[in-house]
Amino acid sequence: MTARTRAAITGWPVTQSRSPLVHGYWLKKHGIDGTYDKIAVSPDEAEAFYGNFAASGLKGCNVTIPYKEVAAAACDILDEAAREMGAANTLWLDRDGRLCGANTDWIGFLGNLDQRAPGWDEKHDCAIVLGAGGGARAIVWALCSRKFTSVHIFNRTFEKARQIADQFGPSVEAHSWDMLGTFLGKADILINTTSLGMTGKAPLEIDLGDLPKEALVTDIVYVPLLTGLLKQAAARGNRTVDGLGMLLHQAVPGFEKWFGVRPQVDDALRRLVLDDLEQAS
Ligand code: ATR
Repeated sequence: MTARTRAAITGWPVTQSRSPLVHGYWLKKHGIDGTYDKIAVSPDEAEAFYGNFAASGLKGCNVTIPYKEVAAAACDILDEAAREMGAANTLWLDRDGRLCGANTDWIGFLGNLDQRAPGWDEKHDCAIVLGAGGGARAIVWALCSRKFTSVHIFNRTFEKARQIADQFGPSVEAHSWDMLGTFLGKADILINTTSLGMTGKAPLEIDLGDLPKEALVTDIVYVPLLTGLLKQAAARGNRTVDGLGMLLHQAVPGFEKWFGVRPQVDDALRRLVLDDLEQAS
């Protein structure tokens, strides 16, 4: 008898994570006898946990805040995105017991837009990214992979935007927040990666007056699903995509690695997670 394949979301805290719901849905749908749990790893355990991952008994795991960097450092093999970003959110043990790591946040971003706004990257001259945290880095990576010729990052702390821009070369530029108005008129896509607009956080205050009507607007915040930014953009006729799909699509490669089936992000899964988010609010 082969042992049941076990995977988990790991981080600190993990209580709010919807990943068990997502993977549980796919396990059931595909009739796979596997498990996906929540494992809270305290800060004093983290290095040992990822450093000696085989001892956990897991085939692999997702990694959330604050351990994506610690996890990447513990890996024997990293994919290109995880190596360049220095952060891994998906880990698995290969046949030889080596710990492998990938960063799938950028795949989640692309999968969401490809599904909900087909053709969104046909015009790829100018992208505007608000924020410069880990989410922004993955999204800049995604935009560069789709050949955006000019990506502009705006952040409250300019230095963090500059660090990301420096990593990517001349097509990515950093700006201070107050320069946003100068660039909005050229945007093909506007992406919020800050936590502004999230339930319990300050609103994202932005004047979309100069934004072209053809520009796509998207947000990585998905609580609430329709953020103030998305509402404002939709009201003036811009195409919008909410952030929930990024969470769902980033989970696909991990599930495939651990359980051997490439799952689909379908409407029933989206509904399941949405209902859960609504119940919690
Ligand atoms: P993550 O790495 O998960 O993306 P993060 O590093 O906390 O998260 O980044 C959150 C982003 O939201 C940052 O760009 C942050 O700006 P700073 O780099 O200046 O901190 C942005 N952010 C959070 N609160 C903000 C606020 N009140 N005003 C402007 N930007 C804010």
